[in-house]
Amino acid sequence: MSVFPSSRRGFVAGSAGLLGAAISAGARPAHAAPAIEPFHGLHQAGIATPPQGFTSFAVFDVTAGTRGALQALLQRWTAAAAQMASGEAPDAADRDDAPGLPPARLTLTFGFGAGLFEKDGRDRFGLRARRPASLIDLPPFAGDALEPARTGGDISVQACAEDPQTAFHAVRRLARIAAGDARIRWAQAGFLSPRGAGTPRNLLGFKDGTQNVNVADPFALDTFVWSGLEGPAAMRGGTYLVARRIRLAVERWDAVVVSEQERIIGRRKMSGAPAGGEREFEAERFDRRDADGRLAIAADAHVRLASYDGSGARILRRGYSYEDGGVGGYEAGLLFMAYQKDPRSGFVKMFGRMAGSDRLMPFTTHVGSGVFAVPPGVAAGGWVGEALIG
Ligand code: HEM
Repeated sequence: MSVFPSSRRGFVAGSAGLLGAAISAGARPAHAAPAIEPFHGLHQAGIATPPQGFTSFAVFDVTAGTRGALQALLQRWTAAAAQMASGEAPDAADRDDAPGLPPARLTLTFGFGAGLFEKDGRDRFGLRARRPASLIDLPPFAGDALEPARTGGDISVQACAEDPQTAFHAVRRLARIAAGDARIRWAQAGFLSPRGAGTPRNLLGFKDGTQNVNVADPFALDTFVWSGLEGPAAMRGGTYLVARRIRLAVERWDAVVVSEQERIIGRRKMSGAPAGGEREFEAERFDRRDADGRLAIAADAHVRLASYDGSGARILRRGYSYEDGGVGGYEAGLLFMAYQKDPRSGFVKMFGRMAGSDRLMPFTTHVGSGVFAVPPGVAAGGWVGEALIG
């Protein structure tokens, strides 16, 4: 049974033709996308929203001294975010630093890190008792190379839009509005290809997002993504974000022959079909063997180790590729973003299975990380996180 009725946004997306098991979060509709995504609703926009082409993600450290100042910051951010998403002119008290940019389906999604509830052992905002149990500190994983400057942080803001400057400008404007109360700890831009119908390809050249929680299926979202009766009331309709900045050794990957790349992923490069299969969206058959009796999807293939085995939980992957130039080689990879009901049964369980043994891991290095409690959506007149921080 659905804990929450699906949002209006969900119905709009559904009526636009997104329903159907073959369509995943990664697939983007062929029709022209509406330019405006509603900011207000039961859930924050930017999660079940069909992915836009670009992201600008930032994690802020809060420097405000009091809970009142933190609340005022969230109120200013909410007003600015609603205004930017609507494409309307800012009110007299604020200004638009880059006038004329299109709203371009802009969404802004806010999350709260553990540091807001407790920092260096201090209950600085009197919020310690309100920290949701699902807002965990991630355990260390084999192969982690996390940079402290890109790990943790107090508030995450993810802007997504069909225009890269709209997304960048939105976070930058929030950073200006926050002056004195919060500053950027780390930021990362990302993009998604192809622009049009079909599952996007990641920087390994593979379709990414084939097997994902279907954002047009309210039951799947209630089961795997939205926080429900099992969590605190202030989080109902919210979710938890695990963000990882994963560097990809693209030059080493390019030295691997395609048949071996396919063995590593467990899917065909061209079609996206499961190894041994023919069509992208056909079911994975993990017991299938090839003519030589070997498992078609290898025992250490990425999709086998990542797949839902019924004992953990599914996650909604909504990541973006990144490319930051480089010196002597590319600085490129995946801004992995996964929304889930509870990271303990989602990301931790899944990545714990993968980290030591997935054949893809030698091509990846996890250099940034954060877990954020993403509060539910905002009603008109309310502010983001009101029930949790108010
Ligand atoms: C840079 C690192 C990664 C790359 C390049 C990558 C790439 C891929 C590709 C190409 C697929 C197959 C297409 C699809 O079903 O989407 C896939 C599937 C998947 N990946 Fe990853 N992935 C990465 C990291 C991760 C991590 C860290 C997790 C979670 C801890 C994860 C979870 C999944 C899941 C759940 C699937 C679907 C598995 C299934 O077939 O049921 N991936 N990934």
